[in-house]
Amino acid sequence: MEEGQDTEEGHDASRAPCAALNRKKAALDFALEGEITNPHLRAFAATPLRRALLEDVRFDYWRRYSRCKKELIESWAALEQLRRCVRRLFPSSAAADDADAHRTGAGLVFVELCSGRGCLSMLLAHEFPDATIHMCDADARMKLPHLAHPSMRNVTFHLEDVFTDEAKRTVVDAVAKAERDGGKCLVVGVHLCGDLARRAVELWRATGAHALVLCPCCLPRRRRADAFGFHVKDQARKMRIDSYALWCVMLYGLAAAGDGDGDGDGDGDGDGDGEGAVCCNLCVDEDVTSPQRSFITAVRRARGGRARGGGVEAARSRGGGVVPGRGAGKWRIVDR
Ligand SMILES: C[S@@+](CC[C@H](N)C(=O)[O-])C[C@H]1O[C@@H](n2cnc3c(N)ncnc32)[C@H](O)[C@@H]1O
Repeated sequence: MEEGQDTEEGHDASRAPCAALNRKKAALDFALEGEITNPHLRAFAATPLRRALLEDVRFDYWRRYSRCKKELIESWAALEQLRRCVRRLFPSSAAADDADAHRTGAGLVFVELCSGRGCLSMLLAHEFPDATIHMCDADARMKLPHLAHPSMRNVTFHLEDVFTDEAKRTVVDAVAKAERDGGKCLVVGVHLCGDLARRAVELWRATGAHALVLCPCCLPRRRRADAFGFHVKDQARKMRIDSYALWCVMLYGLAAAGDGDGDGDGDGDGDGDGEGAVCCNLCVDEDVTSPQRSFITAVRRARGGRARGGGVEAARSRGGGVVPGRGAGKWRIVDR
């Protein structure tokens, strides 16, 4: 289905007037009517952003998007993971600067890779009005009228292929800005397909960004035998485990390996101060409705200090490990 088209439900609905708003009913109206049972959607619906989305003409295209409900749920789930990372990066929220980071996002720089139309960036802009937000996507045809809304004034869109040096420069600059302001840079990618997920980890490692939140989507295509993840389906079949779960573990391992030398350049060449340990987590969010609902998070241990929870080594010694779930794919790897 084309982006921006109404759902089947929405097609019927679009013929019915939405009396209170003096317009045709759209997909978002259906998503938000009645009792909202999904916790992520309910949390979104409790924000003032709901009203802007329902009423402002700049969100018109967005609210008619057939998959807006799914994207809102997934984006809210990612937002919660980012909040956890912020808590790890600024554990002492009693200090004024840290409290601002938690409350308004002051000092925080977010880079949303493969953002699509930026549902997550939209939520971030609202939840962290003092943060700086960069959206990167390679699709030049995307319509982004909602970025003209005043609540999106801290969002910048970059038309970039994440595999290029240009995209790497965007992340490097974001990290530099965050560090200049005494803040932190968080890289995030939601529903990244195949090799895009690996690239997100690579960019995070290579740029020294302080945290990563990644929700991988489909598996890498079988193209090159030497490509990372090329064998994942076959390996999973042999191991009799879920292939998406195995793919997530592979990405977790890539993130947990960190830089190794702490200089943030991804080369592990010993130029850093030796504090490259990262605090990683892999969890399945049961409230996300799509089957691809694993989140990998990685928070870099501060130089000369420790992120809350310590690093991978610390977790090992404290007994972090695999926590089985109710069914295939519902397990977690926990860095306690
Ligand atoms: C599955 S969508 C995910 C969109 C959004 N993150 C979400 O959760 O809805 C994948 C997005 O990646 C973008 N994309 C694909 N290849 C890309 C690349 N090489 N560089 C940047 N963006 C890319 C597509 O344009 C698309 O918007």
